[in-house]
Amino acid sequence: MDKKDKPYRDNDRKNLKKSKAAGKVDAVKDDWRAILEKRSMKSMRYNNNSTTPLSVDSPVFIIAPTDTKENETKTEVPGVDFQLPWKSVLPPEIQELCLKAEFTPEFCQANLRIIYSVGLFLHEELFAKGAHFAHGQAPYCQPERVEAAMKLVQAPAKPIKKMFGSLKPVGEGGFGSVFVGKVKYVPKSGTENMSKKVKRVAIKKVSHNSIHEKRSNITEIAYLATLSHPNIVDFYYVLHVTEAESAKEKISSAFGATNDQLWIVLEFMQGGTLAEATRFSNWTQNSVAFVAWQILLGLEYLHDRNFGHRDLKSNNVMMSVTGQIKLIDFGLCTDFSNGKQTKLLGTSHWIPPEMISRQPHDMQVDIWSFAVCILELFIRGPPHRGQAFKCMVSSATVGLQDQIPLDDPRLGKTGQEFLKNCLVVDPTKRATAKELLKHRWITVNAREDNGGIIKILSQIFLAKALL
Ligand SMILES: Nc1ncnc2c1ncn2[C@@H]1O[C@H](COP(=O)(O)OP(=O)(O)O)[C@@H](O)[C@H]1O
Ligand SMILES: [Mg+2]
Repeated sequence: MDKKDKPYRDNDRKNLKKSKAAGKVDAVKDDWRAILEKRSMKSMRYNNNSTTPLSVDSPVFIIAPTDTKENETKTEVPGVDFQLPWKSVLPPEIQELCLKAEFTPEFCQANLRIIYSVGLFLHEELFAKGAHFAHGQAPYCQPERVEAAMKLVQAPAKPIKKMFGSLKPVGEGGFGSVFVGKVKYVPKSGTENMSKKVKRVAIKKVSHNSIHEKRSNITEIAYLATLSHPNIVDFYYVLHVTEAESAKEKISSAFGATNDQLWIVLEFMQGGTLAEATRFSNWTQNSVAFVAWQILLGLEYLHDRNFGHRDLKSNNVMMSVTGQIKLIDFGLCTDFSNGKQTKLLGTSHWIPPEMISRQPHDMQVDIWSFAVCILELFIRGPPHRGQAFKCMVSSATVGLQDQIPLDDPRLGKTGQEFLKNCLVVDPTKRATAKELLKHRWITVNAREDNGGIIKILSQIFLAKALL
């Protein structure tokens, strides 16, 4: 499994020092992730170990509408004056990252607040204790949906081995481990959405213990259960596998033996992730446009409902064997019906400028991340690959339009213009999903793909078989 590109906050001072000594600060970042990601991300999403029972009235489910003015003042960092010389504000290690990114002193001074924001997000432990921008809201979901989602959680009706046979790992993210299993037994209730033809399912196992884990898991399930669209993964049902159950059935746990888990049973996406596809195949312009079209249809559906995915990246876009493209992972999905929200979250290279500058954001965040996914298909990885710090600072200042591969013969003028419309730093001027669906690059090229995506899938299956 590829450890790259998960949502994370790297914050290990010791490792940074080591890498600094070796003179390769950003290059070892992926190694840190392997070690730290789970711990740091879990603390980002689940930072409270209280085991209070969860209810819809719990304060963790309540969100106040965002007042933009209030947010503007709140986003400043207590005790930090961004008018001071940049070298006196930034920790030495962050100054070094600036040099490595080839930022000039003038640039660092002019963009000190953004550099501080990125530094704090990626390397929190390098900063003075208590340094923070205002903590934003956790993902919000309407209480009715949350209540309905809680009722969906059921105990396994049979020994779980008899339900799925032996499980094989197929993927891992910052929060869950995903397995594929056979459909040996289907629970009698709560599985109306699951066709009798389904032979295999994906099972996303997530730890379900602290109040924050519970909140986060139930919110994710609330979205999965609400959404129904050809470009969004199908949700079937969810099981609560208790610690005792795991012990009885000797189920190895990704979260240690002593843990309750939720098993979220989903449509199995056999074609793998878009991230894998970038590595295995050479994409034609028409096939990229086809993928873009499919992702945009999923986004249009989400945005029409005021939902934002907020963790769109090639690892969260999957393919079926028949070349259907679907969005997965609704762990950071939120509802903007009550207004914009302010929180820096997601995965470094895909995070949009407004989040990085700690401004209130809305659904338009997904359009930026979507464009990064499309760029990935052309340049075989995200822009500024291996340089998360440089990528985030650049996104929020000069933007990423200079990363569009103008000399790539596959990307014509219309394609370049399409990407430019998405990679607009000001979210209010960025094209919407609806507008992009009408863009000529989509309407002409996607239609002309003519099964090209199937050829790509067969190349991927072949490449995987040879591994
Ligand atoms: N429905 C699915 N079918 C096949 N593989 C999946 C499915 N859902 C997730 N995966 C694999 O598991 C990985 C992690 O799943 P994800 O839902 O993104 O978890 P996390 O919230 O931890 O990021 C994905 O990147 C993908 O490789
Ligand atoms: Mg994920």
